[in-house]
Amino acid sequence: MSDSNVFPLGHPRPRKPAPPLLTAESLRYQRGGRELLAGVSFELPEKGITALLGPNGAGKSLTLRILMGLIPPDSGQVGFHSGFSGRIGMVFQQPVLLRRSVRANLDHALRIARIPRRDRTGMIAELLVMANLTHCAENAARSLSGGEQQRLAMARALVADPELLLLDEPTSSLDPAATAAFEDLTLEVAAKGAKIVLVTHDLHQARRLADDIIFLHRGRVYEHRTASAFFNAPESAEAKAYCTGTLLT
Ligand SMILES: Nc1ncnc2c1ncn2[C@@H]1O[C@H](COP(=O)(O)OP(=O)(O)O)[C@@H](O)[C@H]1O
Ligand SMILES: [Mg+2]
Repeated sequence: MSDSNVFPLGHPRPRKPAPPLLTAESLRYQRGGRELLAGVSFELPEKGITALLGPNGAGKSLTLRILMGLIPPDSGQVGFHSGFSGRIGMVFQQPVLLRRSVRANLDHALRIARIPRRDRTGMIAELLVMANLTHCAENAARSLSGGEQQRLAMARALVADPELLLLDEPTSSLDPAATAAFEDLTLEVAAKGAKIVLVTHDLHQARRLADDIIFLHRGRVYEHRTASAFFNAPESAEAKAYCTGTLLT
């Protein structure tokens, strides 16, 4: 029987799942006799926001650094979908900004991305609007509030038009209003098609933003499920304990 007989016109067809954007396979990383990553494997869905959760020291930042290509794993590998552009951006917990104006920070990043001068002004204007920083474009980047600095770090990461954006606890030092503004920006970036991996300590934030959850503990993946399944009923005792605030390291 052909497909069209099974799903007559007007009825939704189950779509073939898109191939993963990225596959992490048995990542191991050992230092000082400790297995910091003990065989981490997961597949990242092509789109949406994946939250990487886990207590302090679980190996979340290490995992992001390996995905970014900043450090090589001792063994295991990261494979990308064949159509992947290779453009990856990262925003850290503490932004590293140049001692220049907001505009000059973006201009510098665009120059590094080899965007010709004549295109840069318009792109900077767009980035400033998106990150809601137009009002402080001429201010020294380091004089901005914490929330503005993180939105600038995000705008700067967007300069390279990343297909994959890695956010490492980007709001952990922000107040609720600044956190909400950063979350809005994150949702907007995801809606425009970038795949996002968000490391967060904030379970409420993961509930608000994430499509799927990877739960990491002591260098191992305990669960990788949709956010609704994860928050309805975590499967592992470790994830349960984490969600109720009793699993600290
Ligand atoms: N280069 C390193 N050398 C030794 N230990 C490290 C190194 N990088 C991270 N660690 C340790 O590895 C563990 C996992 O680190 P990390 O990925 O930063 O955890 P988190 O989940 O809190 O982001 C921590 O115990 C940390 O102290
Ligand atoms: Mg970390």
